[in-house]
Amino acid sequence: MTENPRVVSRRAVVVTGAASGIGYATAELFRGLGDTVYGLDIVSTVPDGVTYLDCNVAERASVRHAIGAVGAAEGRIDVLANVAGVAQFGRFDTITDAEWDRVHAIDLKGPFMTIQEALPYLRACAGNVVNVSSVAGRVPQGYTVAYSAAKGGLTQLTRSLALELAPENIRVNAVCPGTVDTPLVAGIAANFPTDLDPRVAARLAPMLPGPAMAPAEVAASIAFLASPDARMMTGAVLAQDGGMS
Ligand SMILES: NC(=O)c1ccc[n+]([C@@H]2O[C@H](COP(=O)([O-])OP(=O)(O)OC[C@H]3O[C@@H](n4cnc5c(N)ncnc54)[C@H](O)[C@@H]3O)[C@@H](O)[C@H]2O)c1
Repeated sequence: MTENPRVVSRRAVVVTGAASGIGYATAELFRGLGDTVYGLDIVSTVPDGVTYLDCNVAERASVRHAIGAVGAAEGRIDVLANVAGVAQFGRFDTITDAEWDRVHAIDLKGPFMTIQEALPYLRACAGNVVNVSSVAGRVPQGYTVAYSAAKGGLTQLTRSLALELAPENIRVNAVCPGTVDTPLVAGIAANFPTDLDPRVAARLAPMLPGPAMAPAEVAASIAFLASPDARMMTGAVLAQDGGMS
């Protein structure tokens, strides 16, 4: 009998931001595929069957501790999904230093540190990385300049690191969602300014009609990019934004 390349043996999967939204759905999906899943977050509400590890992705020591715990238990990391993130919304002139630094520490430096700490374990099994960037990391988006800059950085981190790690058969890809129905978006909607220029604000809406995108839809893209079906994909920046970009 020939081996089916689509059937993957139990993988060790790390999902950051697994306590809510896209990260929760991603951890749940991998768990459903039979993988051993570790959910790294500052909040412990990860799905059933997922091992919670307290981790602030903005702190090197915290990242080292959590990734080290996975490495000690599994000896390998087949998939690292960097989903943890925070949003920023508002006019450019209202961005404070503290807000700029917080967004960059979590959304850009976080993945830099998790990947760096995971590298020995990714090397152990030719594992792969999926970063959750954003439509704001692909095309210009007003009123989110700190966030756009961080996600643009994450998109280029993805592409550049994919090139550097390709000789080791370690793939690095990104998915760039548009608007997803999660607490992050609900928080923005609740504080939406009313004085925005409609020509700029129009860029924030999906073109395709229909219901809001569910976190599970982005999780499915992450699982695909992490799967053997995507074995020739690295440095890919997948748009999943209903035409926003
Ligand atoms: N929701 C959207 O419309 C949308 C669109 C594009 C991209 N994204 C990206 O998707 C990712 C997930 O967003 P979401 O909408 O599911 O948000 P969410 O708020 O529902 O979930 C984010 C998770 O990240 C965790 N987190 C925040 N700071 C952390 C830290 N310092 N260390 C560890 N964990 C931390 C939170 O506790 C939470 O569980 C983010 O990177 C976000 O930028 C979301």
